[in-house]
Amino acid sequence: GAPVEVSLSKAEPGQQIRVIWRGKPVWLVNRTKEMLDTLAGLDGALKDPNSDNVKQQPEYAKNLARTREGKEQYLVLVGICTHLGCSPTYRPELAPADLGADWKGGWYCPCHGSRFDLAGRVYKNVPAGANLEVPPYYFKDDNTILIG
Ligand code: FES
Repeated sequence: GAPVEVSLSKAEPGQQIRVIWRGKPVWLVNRTKEMLDTLAGLDGALKDPNSDNVKQQPEYAKNLARTREGKEQYLVLVGICTHLGCSPTYRPELAPADLGADWKGGWYCPCHGSRFDLAGRVYKNVPAGANLEVPPYYFKDDNTILIG
């Protein structure tokens, strides 16, 4: 199928927007500096902190932010839980009552409780075994991403 074009002007800082690519939900999140700052301290809590599972992202997104270099605020993820395929809920807030004092923001899957950080990396002690997938994408210009 044709690549899906996403205008970055639709995503305010901290917000997630959704598009459909090849019949799948795909998310774009415009992460703030505060959100990016949460990523470095989480390694010990994650199953695959360095994104070593090569099936879960293109080579250019195998880094802490899981993005194209120089565009770290813009995270692109396939919005399908790597456990059994539900669509996780965006929960960017810090330490909400239902997710606990250690929660730094990310996604929560309502089906069986899997948790992912703000780079889509899966936490330990949840049923999902892999980080959320980063689809192939590139910047057409400073304001436009093409997914696919
Ligand atoms: Fe997400 Fe099972 S489908 S935790």
